[in-house]
Amino acid sequence: MFIEVVGVSKNYQVGEVKICALKDLSLNLDKGALYVILGPSGSGKTTLLNILGGLDSPDKGKVIVDGEDITALDPKGLTLYRRKKVGFVFQFYNLVSSLTVLENVLSTKYLSTDGLDPEEVLKTMGVWEHRAKFPFELSGGEQQRVAIARAVVKNPALILCDEPTGALDFENAKKVLELLEDVNRKFGTTIIIATHNVAVSRMSSKIMRLRSGELVEFAENPHPVPAKEVSW
Ligand SMILES: Nc1ncnc2c1ncn2[C@@H]1O[C@H](COP(=O)(O)OP(=O)(O)OP(=O)(O)O)[C@@H](O)[C@H]1O
Ligand SMILES: [Mg+2]
Repeated sequence: MFIEVVGVSKNYQVGEVKICALKDLSLNLDKGALYVILGPSGSGKTTLLNILGGLDSPDKGKVIVDGEDITALDPKGLTLYRRKKVGFVFQFYNLVSSLTVLENVLSTKYLSTDGLDPEEVLKTMGVWEHRAKFPFELSGGEQQRVAIARAVVKNPALILCDEPTGALDFENAKKVLELLEDVNRKFGTTIIIATHNVAVSRMSSKIMRLRSGELVEFAENPHPVPAKEVSW
């Protein structure tokens, strides 16, 4: 088993009000699979991804990744964990605006000791021809493909995608999903995609449904559909 989440709870205190973002959540994830977390706004998807990625820590419970309890790590340990094991893809790309496409990818490649060839990765994402451009010179779809390249080039065991298609039109969204599917197949990267788009979940063989911070369903989809054929 690759990831073990055991009784994780996370609360946020906003003034007088306590918000329960995750409630006693437990789940096991296998290496090399592509998961989708489905849930409406506020259901805890981002909170869960942030905890899995070591960007946030739970109030209760633990998260074990590859045999290591990441909830017991100090800030330095967590930084190393993120650097070595995790790639992030966000809704709004989060590229470094002052760096070119190639520099954006090189800047994360150097975080890893067994990174991939940036040229190969940018070519796979179909943005090699844009390597000398700055992010503002690219379309949203192209920026997101560079963002995936940044995550992939480190060759992480885990890629976490928070609404990766949320800001894209249908054609670009599909392209991004196809690329994530390729990465999962080609590199065996465990990929977790958080979305509120039910159609996206059809490409996954394992679908988690969150509602109000609780895992209400963890279903096997016996017939995942290639991303290319997903539509909404
Ligand atoms: N930093 C924070 N401070 C206070 N409350 C927060 C914080 N982050 C999240 N929350 C609350 O925790 C709950 C879960 O939020 P989360 O962002 O995980 O939901 P989500 O499923 O990602 O939603 P969305 O689809 O809108 O991105 C929500 O009620 C949210 O308001
Ligand atoms: Mg979110």
